[in-house]
Amino acid sequence: MKSNLLHLHRRPALYCLMLGISSVFAQQPPARQAPAPGAQNRPPATTPPATPAAPQAPTPPQPIAPTPNPVRPQSPQNLSEPLPGLTFEEAVQFADGQEEFRHVETPATGLGPIFNDVSCVACHNAGGTGGAGRSTVTRFGRTTDGVFDPLESLGGSLLQARSINPAVRETVPAVANTVARRITTPLFGAGLIEAIPDNTITAGLLRPKPRGITGKVSIVTDVVSGQNRVGRFGWKAQQATLLAFSADAYRNEMGITNRFFPTENAPNGNAALLARFKTTSDPEDKIDPADGKGDVDRAADYMRLLAPPPQNGLSASALAGQRFFATLDCAACHTPTMTTGRSAIAALSGKTVNLYSDLLLHDMDSLGDGIAQGTAGPREMRTAPLWGVSVRPLWLHDGRARTIDDAVRAHDGEARDSRDRYTLLSATERRQLLDFLDAL
Ligand code: HEC
Ligand code: HEC
Repeated sequence: MKSNLLHLHRRPALYCLMLGISSVFAQQPPARQAPAPGAQNRPPATTPPATPAAPQAPTPPQPIAPTPNPVRPQSPQNLSEPLPGLTFEEAVQFADGQEEFRHVETPATGLGPIFNDVSCVACHNAGGTGGAGRSTVTRFGRTTDGVFDPLESLGGSLLQARSINPAVRETVPAVANTVARRITTPLFGAGLIEAIPDNTITAGLLRPKPRGITGKVSIVTDVVSGQNRVGRFGWKAQQATLLAFSADAYRNEMGITNRFFPTENAPNGNAALLARFKTTSDPEDKIDPADGKGDVDRAADYMRLLAPPPQNGLSASALAGQRFFATLDCAACHTPTMTTGRSAIAALSGKTVNLYSDLLLHDMDSLGDGIAQGTAGPREMRTAPLWGVSVRPLWLHDGRARTIDDAVRAHDGEARDSRDRYTLLSATERRQLLDFLDAL
């Protein structure tokens, strides 16, 4: 929820834009993001669950700090630039949206009662506001004879690991026998990915593929339009649009209900406990009468207008590596290029998108995360887009890979043959392929 004060905060953005210094503004540290000294009151993840106690009054809200993030202060590189060619009005939306993306929520603005972090940027920060990150979230469920049950009545499948009061904190229920971590994905160029027509992604299925590689389109009901759409965002391609993902993240990562997700998550499904600790009324994200937008819309604007990672020229070594990318069939899943359809935003209309993903789900066998979500089965994962891959702090869905080489070696399932041939490259050839990936 946004206070009117935010309007005042927004003025510097507008001012800088008028002076044509949006990127300078973008690099300023967010004023309200700095945790107060001594405010690192995040309970350790291993603290035993609070025993459901007798009813008690909520304790007064305390300052809640973002998850301490051990990410090296990222390379001087700042990728959070607006798309080239925005209109003045779109540039203002970008700046306003960035401010919202960095805004630290508090219990007074609707944070919690259960949540995972206090702002979008608290997790999405590697290489700039909206990047990947080291933060992971936990999904749980119960798998019986290969069938995954998300344990919705017990608060699954997404765990909210923090709470505004220890008495409401969620835990992984004892009946869960499948627990997976998911690492934060980057948002650079997300508007271009959103603008790829559904049928372009579906057509990728029909392209002839090397033996053993198939793929599956993720079909999801878009909560914004109510229509069946091709999912493309998230490790499971579980959302089709940025507004839907934004609304989902506001409710499920921060506990801020909104017009698309108007109901608060009850801690481990316990509605009585929720009622005792909830002090704000739903939906917590209010529409600003001035422009008809809520926080969910502004964060979506930001992601939509964010430039893709810059792709510079290829060195001789990277050029050699590009050949292996093709001959090892990496490109069979990591489709180098797609084209956006028509968009009301000229900067997104008919553009080439060098994303290096087919946006399809693939059976990755042992690399699957065991969680079924939407169309995606437990072993199926979305082909990770590889643009900007060198700017991720860790790789693969749970961050298990500390290097890009590790990430390729962990491929399995439909990618097994491709991976095996990768391991057979000479050290020089492998270096060349990795140099190519570094340049994306
Ligand atoms: C607690 C950390 C955390 C917070 C807070 C958070 N995210 Fe994320 N975000 C993630 C993780 C983890 C993923 C991957 C989730 C998955 O696929 O299951 C993700 C994925 C996404 C994606 C999908 C991108 C893609 O194509 O893979 C979008 C869009 C997104 N987040 C937007 C937001 C917005 C907007 C906010 C603020 C309202 C936000 N996130 C807050 C951790 C976070
Ligand atoms: C069958 C499809 C398929 C093939 C073939 C394939 N990949 Fe992947 N790749 C994926 C999927 C799916 C993921 C996401 C896996 C996960 O973590 O769940 C991925 C992830 C990655 C990542 C990590 C990205 C990140 O953000 O963490 C890298 C790097 C990568 N692939 C490189 C390659 C290279 C190099 C090759 C060729 C040797 C290759 N891939 C072949 C499907 C494929």
